[in-house]
Amino acid sequence: LSKNIQNICCIGAGYVGGPTCAVIAYKCPDIQVNVVDLSQERINAWNSDNIPIYEPGLSEIVMERRGKNLHFSTKIDECIEKADIIFISVNTPTKTYGVGLGRAPDLTYVESAARTISKVAKTSKIIVEKSTVPVKAAESIINMLKSNQKPDVEFQVLSNPEFLAEGTAISDLLNPDRILIGGEDTDKGQWAIEQLSKVYQHWVDRSIIITTNTWSSELSKLAANAMLAQRISSINSISAICESSGADIQHVSKAIGADSRIGSKFLQASVGFGGSCFQKDINNLIYLCENLNLKEVADYWSQVILINDYQKKRFVNKIIKSLFNTCTNKKIAIFGFAFKKNTGDTRESASIHICKYLLDEGANLNILDPKVDYDQMMFELSNPQLNLPIDVIKNKVQLFSDDVIEACRNSHALVVCTEWDNFKSYDYEKIYEVMQKPAHIFDGRLILDHERLMSYGFHVEAIGKRL
Ligand code: NAD
Ligand code: UGA
Repeated sequence: LSKNIQNICCIGAGYVGGPTCAVIAYKCPDIQVNVVDLSQERINAWNSDNIPIYEPGLSEIVMERRGKNLHFSTKIDECIEKADIIFISVNTPTKTYGVGLGRAPDLTYVESAARTISKVAKTSKIIVEKSTVPVKAAESIINMLKSNQKPDVEFQVLSNPEFLAEGTAISDLLNPDRILIGGEDTDKGQWAIEQLSKVYQHWVDRSIIITTNTWSSELSKLAANAMLAQRISSINSISAICESSGADIQHVSKAIGADSRIGSKFLQASVGFGGSCFQKDINNLIYLCENLNLKEVADYWSQVILINDYQKKRFVNKIIKSLFNTCTNKKIAIFGFAFKKNTGDTRESASIHICKYLLDEGANLNILDPKVDYDQMMFELSNPQLNLPIDVIKNKVQLFSDDVIEACRNSHALVVCTEWDNFKSYDYEKIYEVMQKPAHIFDGRLILDHERLMSYGFHVEAIGKRL
């Protein structure tokens, strides 16, 4: 293994690989960073003026480093061969087939990346699991790597989970709370940890780099996501009590969060968490518990997902009930399709499920989202698991990127699913005028000024409070 890290290859140019490597290239001008992917289309987009991921601050960094020490290509073998460190940042979706169906992560892509490395590498490498993987995945990766290993080639496998959140990826990467690196408890393992630490130390203080054994690092990632999601399900479960009792969830969140042991972050009641990871990673944890015969622990974490599903359903039931128990052919404006603000990512967005339930009730939907395009919306709604007939989606759903008045014209209700900032500054008096009466607003994100809306004549309902 070479002494100084001069070249990094990242396999997978997605939401993690792209932003992470852009920041490494930005902070480490002495290191050449190659981001590779099987998808020519994605790589072409990374090399264009219109990069494939919307993330505040990302485009500027990519434009500054691209062609200097940041390169995007499909030349996977060539870039692996040149690299001292190889990040595996491929997708690890929940299995949709076979053993572990709906629970275990599908490691097909991790395995194929590992096999390619072992086939191609002619010199020793440090391999870094950046993807979120099950506990003990590093062991499987080592076994795959050994299968084709050439004499004199050594591999060290590290776990270095990523904690960035979408929408704030660049600031999270530039100012991380901590960097976690797990490795083998051997001299070579510790040496590899130090090499990766040195990369981060270009901009991160050594004191926030936590080093552990590989399994602790892998489990910490699953546990961190499970605990973050658990906070949301906890506050959402309290929001149901608020709606029934007359308490106000925003006051309750503030009162709870003021306790420094609890903290104020991640206590926003909502339509339910979405995104590609929380549900997947909790399922991953549940599968691990089941395999370890820890049924009670598995049941505990399952409840986080059950409450999340309950919250989405509860919100839709509230809408249907207020619309006099029928949505058939009513027009409903949906504010937001992305799973959170400041991203165009729609994976597992709560909005998808709310749209599905409303379409099942016969509603017509005008969806408004600043960063989601029509093909992406159609892709999500035509997912076979939603079981929505394609003609229903085509005839009953329209997407509006920014024309809020047209999206709301003649609609019976307006439903806030994503907390985009620009939704707050719309002219709701004007929106009220163009809607059918009674005009309903359902605020699933608690971002609007409810008193004011009521003064315009709206019938307002919100998560976690009675109005
Ligand atoms: P993604 O789907 O956006 O990107 C993965 C990329 O890997 C795709 O472009 C795919 O074409 C490519 N790929 C798959 N197999 C390949 C192979 N053998 N060779 C080359 N390229 C290959 O996924 P993502 O959102 O970036 O997530 C990646 C991993 O990081 C997951 O394990 C996820 O759980 C974890 N993670 C994601 C986030 C997030 O915010 N999205 C945050 C932390 C951790
Ligand atoms: C989450 C974690 O926050 C990251 O640390 C982690 O790296 C990442 O998952 C991952 O492993 O993929 P992300 O899903 O991108 O990041 O975004 P979050 O900010 O965590 O939001 C997730 C969902 O929870 C969103 O739908 C959001 O709207 C919702 N949420 C969040 C709430 O409903 N209430 C809150 O108080 C916070």
